[in-house]
Amino acid sequence: MRQEENEFLTQTGPGTPMGELMRQYWFPAMRSDELVADGDPVRLRLLCEDFVAFRTGSGEVGIVDHFCAHRCASLFFGRNEDEGIRCVYHGWKFDRHGKCVDRPSEPHEAIPASIRLKALKTREVNGLVWVYMGTRETPPPFPEFDVNRRSEESCDVSIALRECNWLQALEGDIDTAHVGFLHLGGVSADNFEKGSINYYRHLDLAPRYEIVETRYGTMYDAYRPAGESETYHRVGQFMLPFFTMTPPFDFDSGATHLRAWVPADDHHTWLIEIKSGDVTLTKDKDGKPLSGGTVGWTYLPNTTDWLGRWRIAENKSNDYGMDRSRPNYTGINGIPLQDQAITESMGPIQDRTREHLGSSDRMIMLSRRRMMKAAKALAEEGAAPPGVETPEVYQSIRSGFMLTPNEADWLAVINDYRAGWNDGAPPITR
Ligand code: FES
Ligand SMILES: [Fe+2]
Repeated sequence: MRQEENEFLTQTGPGTPMGELMRQYWFPAMRSDELVADGDPVRLRLLCEDFVAFRTGSGEVGIVDHFCAHRCASLFFGRNEDEGIRCVYHGWKFDRHGKCVDRPSEPHEAIPASIRLKALKTREVNGLVWVYMGTRETPPPFPEFDVNRRSEESCDVSIALRECNWLQALEGDIDTAHVGFLHLGGVSADNFEKGSINYYRHLDLAPRYEIVETRYGTMYDAYRPAGESETYHRVGQFMLPFFTMTPPFDFDSGATHLRAWVPADDHHTWLIEIKSGDVTLTKDKDGKPLSGGTVGWTYLPNTTDWLGRWRIAENKSNDYGMDRSRPNYTGINGIPLQDQAITESMGPIQDRTREHLGSSDRMIMLSRRRMMKAAKALAEEGAAPPGVETPEVYQSIRSGFMLTPNEADWLAVINDYRAGWNDGAPPITR
């Protein structure tokens, strides 16, 4: 990859092609329970911009530019009072839409409408605050991801700060060729019952791939033989601008999840995950989660800093708690932490001019091309990016694994599953 392309894809501030692409979409930004009615404002960094987030006494969320519109004091020090945030410098007050509603230092003047803060459109769904950072007065329709159509009780949300650029963090999820090494390299097929799905997976660590360009992004099928007559498929998704689904569970399980790789700035990423249903990872024949399983994140205590939230305790400063005597491939405990260590090990922004991609990296190549195409079409023609005006393209998009007869068309099987989950979801086509 050329240096210009690397910069094109990794920069997310205002005015950058990818940054503007991301600003066209709704995406999750923080947990709902981080904001308490009339509680402390929270510093929130998104796409290289700094905001304060607060919840009013009536329970509504406000996310506004952190610089006061008077003399630019930070509203992080502001007081969350009576349906707005009041700057502690001279007392100007702003409502959650950014409108200046009180100006005690200018009591004899009407407040000009031009005095306002940039304010994000927000929406709360299943424990997460979603935002729209674009310029439309009426935001685009809300994306119809499966997890947004589930009940709140069935959803589990988590956030982790990753200390690297969003693209390399995201690409860990669509780089399916690494699973057999990084996560499962220490496990042999003999650990599993002969003929079981995991047995075949470990017997063949070099699956074949088919990549499909979809209306919302890209999807892959990594497939390998499972005995004489069947094929084992693992299917994952990339959805513009920065959503992924990996395949840790069976398509029959009813489970679904969604990961958003939200840039905080170009060197830090919020991994925001929503899971719904039985999302337990692959287990060995004794029922033990593989490679340590999805151990829950252990967090450092949150601070009020821009990057002080959701920091993992096992991090680059302590080599992610690596202990090479552990009976796994890396000595790092658990799949999420292994991914965290490896993607951060590439540096704050990976130098892609040095990489050498092969045929097993086609999902990565095609997804990058899809991002560039959408960002260029937006910048050059003002074209609405995929999914922005068509929220239904996300309906019943899931990831997972399955066994099919050798002769079956895997995409047709997936579409059959999808019709069962939600009759009327548009089929995925090649
Ligand atoms: S700087 Fe905020 S009121 Fe003056
Ligand atoms: Fe991984």
